[in-house]
Amino acid sequence: MFKEFDVAVIGAGAAGMMCAAIAGQNGRKVVLIDHAEKLAEKIRISGGGRCNFTNLHAGPQNYLSNNPHFCKSALSRYTPQDFLALVKRHRIAYHEKHKGQLFCDSSAEQIIDMLKAECERGHVAWRMPCKVEAVGREGERFIIGTDSGSVLAKHVVVATGGLSIPKIGATDFAFRIARQFGLKLVEPRPGLVPLTFDAGAWQPFIPLAGISLEVDIETGEKKSRTRFREDLLFTHRGLSGPAVLQISSFWRPGTALSLNLVPEVDVAHTLIEGKTTLKKNLGNILAQWLPARLADGWLVASGFAPDARIADLPDKQLRKLGESLNRWVILPDGSEGYRKAEVTCGGIDTRELSQQSMMSAKMPGLHFIGEAVDVTGWLGGYNFQWAWASGFAAGLSV
Ligand code: FDA
Repeated sequence: MFKEFDVAVIGAGAAGMMCAAIAGQNGRKVVLIDHAEKLAEKIRISGGGRCNFTNLHAGPQNYLSNNPHFCKSALSRYTPQDFLALVKRHRIAYHEKHKGQLFCDSSAEQIIDMLKAECERGHVAWRMPCKVEAVGREGERFIIGTDSGSVLAKHVVVATGGLSIPKIGATDFAFRIARQFGLKLVEPRPGLVPLTFDAGAWQPFIPLAGISLEVDIETGEKKSRTRFREDLLFTHRGLSGPAVLQISSFWRPGTALSLNLVPEVDVAHTLIEGKTTLKKNLGNILAQWLPARLADGWLVASGFAPDARIADLPDKQLRKLGESLNRWVILPDGSEGYRKAEVTCGGIDTRELSQQSMMSAKMPGLHFIGEAVDVTGWLGGYNFQWAWASGFAAGLSV
C-alpha cells in the first residue's frame, strides 16, 4: 500500500521546512523527506553558528539570476519583516550586526527548532533519514520511491538546495530531477567563495596572511561592472573575507579583479602634494590608512624601504605606489570550489517556473524552491530570505 499525500517536499532545509509548514498549516497533507541524519545542517553552521536569518534591506537588487525579475513576486509576498514577525513570535532574541543583517543572539539551533515547531503545527509527516530513489509520474500524481517505501503525492516540491558543501549532504538531486522532466538549467557554479591565485604569483603576499581591511572591490566590464565595499582578508592561498565572497559570485574565470585598498584617499596625489609637509617616513604615512603590517609588506613587495622619506623620492615612483594601492589589479586562477562555497549560483532556469507558485510549466505539480533555483543572494542573510520567500510561495500554492 502506498501512502498518499497532497504534497511531498524533498529536502528539509530552510526552504523545504518553510514550504511544508505553510502547506500543512493551510490544511494540506504533507510529507517532508530528507536523506540527512541531522536536520538542517546548513542552518546550523550558518552565520558562524548564529544564523544570519534575513536582511532588513533584502530586495530583488540583492540577487543574481539570468532572469532578474523572477524573484520579485515571491520576495514581495514574504518579506524580511514577515520572517522577523515569526522569529519574534517564537521569542528568539536577535540583533542587527552590519548593513541590515539579522543574527540570533544565541544559536542557529533556535531557527531550526522554530521551523520544526511550525511544521508540527501543520501536522507535517517526516521521513528522515530517507533516501529518495526515484520520482515518477503516475496519472495526475507523482510516485516517489524511497528506501522506506513509496509515497504518492499530487505535488512534489524539490527543496534539496545546491552543490555547496557536499560533506554535509549537498547533492545534485534537484538538477537531476529537473533534467528528468525536461527543464533547462543555468550552468551551476560556486558562489560566495574564496578566490585562489597562482602559487608563484601569490608568494610575495603570503606574509600578509591574516590581515583584514575595508576595500572597494570590482569586477566585470561596462554595464556588468559590479562593486562592493567590504572587508578583505589575506590568506595563505589567496583572498577571502566578505569583499571577495561577494565579488566571487559575479567573477568569471579568466577575468581580473580591481581592488582599492585605500578607498577614501587618492594616495598618489596625497603623497606627491605632501612631499614638503609630511615629515614621516613612507611606512608611517601608509600606516595611517592601512594596517601597519600591510603598509610595510606592500612597500617591500613594491621595492621601497619602509623607512624611506617621501621628500627623497621622485614623483613618478610615488605616483606608481599610490596607483598600486588605489587600483590593485589581480587575476585569480580559480576558487576554492564547492568545498568552501556558501552557495551555488545558477540552477533551475527560472523561465521554466511560475513566479507565483514556483511550479514547472512543463510538468504541472512539480515545484522547485530555494537554492536549487537560479536565484542567488549576496552575502548577508539574502539567501535565507530567498529560501523563506520561495518556500512560502510554493507552500501557499500547493
Ligand atoms: P538547504 O541546503 O538548506 O537544504 C537542502 C536539504 O536537502 C538538506 O537538508 C539536504 O540534506 C537535503 N538533500 C540534499 N540532497 C538530497 C537528496 N538527494 N535526497 C533527500 N534530501 C536531500 N545564507 C544566509 O542567508 N545567511 C547565512 O548566515 C548563511 N550562512 C551560510 C554558511 C555556510 C557555511 C553555508 C554553506 C551557507 C550559508 N548560507 C547562508 C546559505 C544558506 O545556507 C543556503 O542558501 C540555504 O540553506 C539554502 O536553503 P535550501 O533549503 O534551498 O537548501
